[in-house]
Amino acid sequence: RKRVAVLISGRGSNMAALIEATADPRFPATIAVVVSNKADAGGLAVAKAAGIPTRVIAKADHPGAEAQDHAMQAVLTEHRVDLICLAGYMRLLRDEFVHRWSGRMINIHPSLLPLFKGLHPHEQALAAGVRLHGCSVHFVTSEMDSGPIIAQAAVPVLAGDTPDSLATRVLEIEHRLYPLALRLVAEGRARMAGDRVEFSQTSAAEQQAL
Ligand code: GAR
Repeated sequence: RKRVAVLISGRGSNMAALIEATADPRFPATIAVVVSNKADAGGLAVAKAAGIPTRVIAKADHPGAEAQDHAMQAVLTEHRVDLICLAGYMRLLRDEFVHRWSGRMINIHPSLLPLFKGLHPHEQALAAGVRLHGCSVHFVTSEMDSGPIIAQAAVPVLAGDTPDSLATRVLEIEHRLYPLALRLVAEGRARMAGDRVEFSQTSAAEQQAL
C-alpha cells in the first residue's frame, strides 16, 4: 500500500474522509502521517484519535518558507511517504518542493476547475451565477489550483444559496470524491503526463462522485 501524508490547516473533514477510506485494508493506500501548519487545527485531534502520527510545522518555529518546506521534507522522509494529499492546506509550497513531488502530490479544490481558483470559490460561483458548482481533485503544479485534473463532481446551485449552504453541499461530495481520486493515483491508474492525466482502466464512475 502507498504511504500517504495528508497536509491540513484546519478542520480536516477531507482528511477524515481519507482516514475512513484508508481504514479498509483493501484500499491501496494508508495514511502514514498528518501534518498541519497550524497548531490549533481541529483535524489534528481527529487524526490522533484514529491513531495516526501527527506533526505541526508552523511558521513560528520555522521562519521562512524554505525552512518550513525543509522541515516538511524531513517528516515525509521519516515516515517513508509515497504520496501527498493536500486537504485544506492553506499555504503555498515552494516550487522546489512542488517539483520534487511532481506527479505524487494531489489537492482538492472546491470548484469545477479551471473556474474559481484561489480563495472564496463559493462566493465566486454565486457572483458568476453558475447553476452547477462542485469540486476537483488535481495534481499539484507550481501554479495554484492549475494542475491536471484527476476527478470532479458537481452539485446544483439552488435559488437562495449562500456561500455557506453551497460550501456544505460541495463538501459532502468532496468527501466522496477525494478517496476515489486517491485510489486511482495510488493504483497508478491516473498518472500525470505533462499537463494532462493519463488514465488506464478507469470508469467514469471512478472519476465522478455524482
Ligand atoms: C475544503 O472545502 C477544501 O476543498 C478547501 O478547504 C476546505 C477544507 O475543509 N480547500 C481549498 O480551498 C484549497 N484551495 P476541511 O479542512 O474540512 O477538509
